Amino acid sequence: MLDMGKVRASFPSLGGGYIFADSAGGSQCLESVAAKVSDYLLNTNVQLGASYDVSVRSTNRVAEGAETTAQLINAASPDEVTFASSSTQAAENLARAIEKDVLDDEELIITGEHEANAGPWKKLAARRGLTIKTWPHTQLASAPNNPYSVELAINALLPLITAKTRLVAFTSCSNILGTIVDVENVIKAIRAEAAKHGARKVEISVDCVAYAPHRRIDVKKWDVDYCFFSYYKVYGPHICALYARAASLANSLSALTHHFLSVDKIAYKISPGGAGYELTYAVSAVLSYLQSLSPSGNIDDSFAFIAAHEQELLKPLIGYLTSDEAKALGILIVGSETVDTWRAPTISFVVSGGRPIPSSDIVAYFDKKGKIGIRYGHFYAYTLVDSLQPKINVDDGVVRISLVHYNTIEEVNTLVSVLKEALQALS
Ligand SMILES: Cc1ncc(COP(=O)(O)O)c(C=O)c1O
Repeated sequence: MLDMGKVRASFPSLGGGYIFADSAGGSQCLESVAAKVSDYLLNTNVQLGASYDVSVRSTNRVAEGAETTAQLINAASPDEVTFASSSTQAAENLARAIEKDVLDDEELIITGEHEANAGPWKKLAARRGLTIKTWPHTQLASAPNNPYSVELAINALLPLITAKTRLVAFTSCSNILGTIVDVENVIKAIRAEAAKHGARKVEISVDCVAYAPHRRIDVKKWDVDYCFFSYYKVYGPHICALYARAASLANSLSALTHHFLSVDKIAYKISPGGAGYELTYAVSAVLSYLQSLSPSGNIDDSFAFIAAHEQELLKPLIGYLTSDEAKALGILIVGSETVDTWRAPTISFVVSGGRPIPSSDIVAYFDKKGKIGIRYGHFYAYTLVDSLQPKINVDDGVVRISLVHYNTIEEVNTLVSVLKEALQALS
């Protein structure tokens, strides 16, 4: 079980009584992370790679970023990890770096989830005249009466794979639906199907941004080629980590760095310029924090505690949103209605039916109430939100309440009661 006193004390911003429920947008930052940023800037803020002692220290400190990230995601080596200012930037870099290893008649598969892992591939396809296919969302069998209860199912993906498939880009957890994809089995199924068709080379890029705060990324277990996540959603600073498998670095990616740098075998080759040094160093505090959440110090155990706590947070919210009272008001969850291990505590809904309420009005009610942060919109999963049937206004989008392990049941109960008030006032 998580020691909630210890958890919350690690985040100074939680001391003020504000309910942060927009964590899928960005989590609160650990005090230990901020301390490292400050320490770096105040004590070792020099250029890396020189021979004088402070520079040696800085170089070693910055190296801790990749070392601890490799440990966090179970990469074989820190050489497979690099950083970018954001995941959006990292995926764009990846698409640029792979371009020379893609043939003109090959196909790329994307999803309608967050545009970060779709836009760069669409642009690559446009530059090269490649075919783009979209893995469609399909109705969840567990909620047949809710048309917005959709998921990415393997069965809807496999028919898209052909001998020409070169890359599949998908999201391990939806930042709208909260659904967690079974990455390991999806990748296995992709590789088996591609082999059946005799595809030349299939690589897989997984967006782990909405996944990383809730479950452990395990690149070895997943057998993934590329994945990325943003530390500012995992209790750290505004920086993104990108994993690229050693074989892909050697055989698929061209360097985006200066021609005279000898970085061909390391992930830095797809970083056209480094990310902030102080931020790269400070991410190392995230791993220590996660390890500290379980007595064993094992991060798999820590994530098991996180998942168990987050399941408890989900129950009152999903319970209310699927109640007869909520249904009578026209509430529909956008995503799974079931609390299970395949669901993160990112809960989206709309009020449709007889007397629809704009998502923006519900959020405005919360804003007026004060001391609670939630949000509405499409959250850059524009294609997904735009594809929902019956159609919703894509800019008004969904109301999203997104929680992480530092939220408490008391906070969730407050969120539910303010939501009830808002619905009563606005219906
Ligand atoms: C699922 C998902 N992917 C990608 C991103 C983009 O991350 P970044 O802001 O680091 O570019 C986000 C941000 O909200 C996201 O939720």
